Amino acid sequence: MFATSVMGPVESTETVKSAAPVRGAGRPMISARRIARRVREMGQEISRVYANVDQPLVMVVILKGAAVFAADLLRSLSIPAELEFVRASSYGSGTASSGRVKFAHLVEGPLTGRDILLVEDIVDSGRTISVIVRELQRHHPASLRLAALLDRPARREIEVGIDFTGFRIPDRFVIGYGLDYAGLYRELPDIYSLG
Ligand code: IMP
Ligand code: MG
Repeated sequence: MFATSVMGPVESTETVKSAAPVRGAGRPMISARRIARRVREMGQEISRVYANVDQPLVMVVILKGAAVFAADLLRSLSIPAELEFVRASSYGSGTASSGRVKFAHLVEGPLTGRDILLVEDIVDSGRTISVIVRELQRHHPASLRLAALLDRPARREIEVGIDFTGFRIPDRFVIGYGLDYAGLYRELPDIYSLG
């Protein structure tokens, strides 16, 4: 994959994506088509819930993994929404949680009295999301809900209320559609499990 990009133009993006990145280790779990369908449904569901709110929703996206999901979800909404970001990381470069969560607040406008929808790629132990919820609650929003593309309840340590869930998945590490392993594979349109 890296060799092609430094040595010359990639002849077929499809070949590169399906053969090289996962190198036989990943198993297809959720196809791009299924993801697209579910994200559209979530967008409709979210739009219904906030239909009578008289100010734009604030989508707070948790970088980096949720960026791809958030971009699609945002375009599935039929209500006005602003876009903000926070940064949190509990994983190093491995597939097991380090247990520590680093938080960075990147939100520009005031959140007091606003309706916040947190957007996360996957809820695993629940540590990341609980730290972020605690930080955002300090701003006294009018409401705070959570949309997670994936829910992996098997490794939960802290109870988390997910208001909008895309897919509940088994206890497998996953990559693709924004989700990374050591910073890689976010570009894959489908979701694969590793191991
Ligand atoms: P938690 O804090 O243990 O709930 O972990 C959630 C965070 O870890 C998410 O924001 C993801 O970025 C990352 N994460 C957890 N599981 C996976 C996975 O299977 N693949 C990629 N990233 C993951
Ligand atoms: Mg991550």
